[in-house]
Amino acid sequence: MKPACVADYRAAARRRLPKVLFDYIDGGSYGETTLAANVADIAAMNLRQRVLRDVSRLSMETRLFGQTLAMPVVLAPVGLAGMYARRGETQAARAAKAAGVPFSLSTVGVCPIAEVAAAAAPPWFQLYMIKDRGFMSDLLATARAAACPVLLFTVDLPVPGARYRDARNGLNAASTGARLRQAADAMRHPDWIWDVMVNGGPQTLGNITAASTGLGTLQAFMGWIGANFDPSVTWKDIAWVRERWPGPLVVKGVLDADDAREARACGVDGIVVSNHGGRQLDGAPSSIAALPAVTDAVGEDLTVLMDGGVRSGLDVLKALALGAKACLIGRAWAFALGAGGEAGVAGMLAILREELRMAMSLTGCVDVLDAGRDLLTG
Ligand SMILES: Cc1cc2nc3c(=O)[nH]c(=O)nc-3n(C[C@H](O)[C@H](O)[C@H](O)COP(=O)(O)O)c2cc1C
Repeated sequence: MKPACVADYRAAARRRLPKVLFDYIDGGSYGETTLAANVADIAAMNLRQRVLRDVSRLSMETRLFGQTLAMPVVLAPVGLAGMYARRGETQAARAAKAAGVPFSLSTVGVCPIAEVAAAAAPPWFQLYMIKDRGFMSDLLATARAAACPVLLFTVDLPVPGARYRDARNGLNAASTGARLRQAADAMRHPDWIWDVMVNGGPQTLGNITAASTGLGTLQAFMGWIGANFDPSVTWKDIAWVRERWPGPLVVKGVLDADDAREARACGVDGIVVSNHGGRQLDGAPSSIAALPAVTDAVGEDLTVLMDGGVRSGLDVLKALALGAKACLIGRAWAFALGAGGEAGVAGMLAILREELRMAMSLTGCVDVLDAGRDLLTG
């Protein structure tokens, strides 16, 4: 069956991936309330249907940080994507390049920056602050040398959120029983074993191999993340990053207007309104609910992006209406990659584009740059 929407890619990824990986992508923290709200709050918004406008020519193009995007969508940083499909980050980056949108590479991606840059284009690079600052300096130098156009500095993960599904699946600390169950489940997914485990190596964290040697299992990856991320980071550290990153610097994970003002005072170029896809503080507001206060506070001065719950082109238009300049998508591309590799991500992006085109046509919005609150009812 040809996927018609992001939900179809999710269903296909569920069939193709071992349960521990599908749940890692699909799940959120604690009771998954914020994860659900991210989707539900966008769904509850109504677009204003307008008629008899000339919508024969639409423009979806936008510019972010000196780059032209074919549509206001960016592939969000997603960890471990090289476990969902063979060299997954390179496949997704190629699909993003073909669609004219940026790809963001996670600090904890499987493929290193150089591999992604050579396969497609220099990615936006996402930074997690690791305790070893010498290593961090080297990593930033690597991203600079590879000409990564934007640095996304993720600030909403000083400690990893508790995710019940991962705990139940033994992702963080597997008992012998859990390991045996994982192995038995993997055997039921031979296509994935052949693609990723036989032909997709090395399965390491390519950007931080030097600091994370000997991570042979998913449990070891997760343990390393918990032990090495730096929970002491404050706004002062933005200056430390800035000294080592002269290019566009975007703080990812701001949900509060006061924090947005702090970010502006630190001289960053942009922020991503995000709750990490509902994977961190459960009970935090949905991203779309948080967006208007943030754009009201700093939208004139900073480029405000948003992510969380974006599953269609209609959702993209709703976020633009509330002042976001573009949306990042996380699970949408992770599912598409797990379902069908590069072709899956390309197909999903084509669907998103078509959905955005339809939404623009039926709301009478001929240029994404003109999207505003008048596109919404109420
Ligand atoms: C499986 C998975 C892994 C993620 N890994 C990272 C990461 O390494 N770095 C980061 O900044 N955000 C990470 N995120 C958060 C995404 O960048 C993004 O904020 C979130 O997925 C947006 O919500 P959505 O999935 O509803 O689109 C991850 C999200 C998922 C689903």
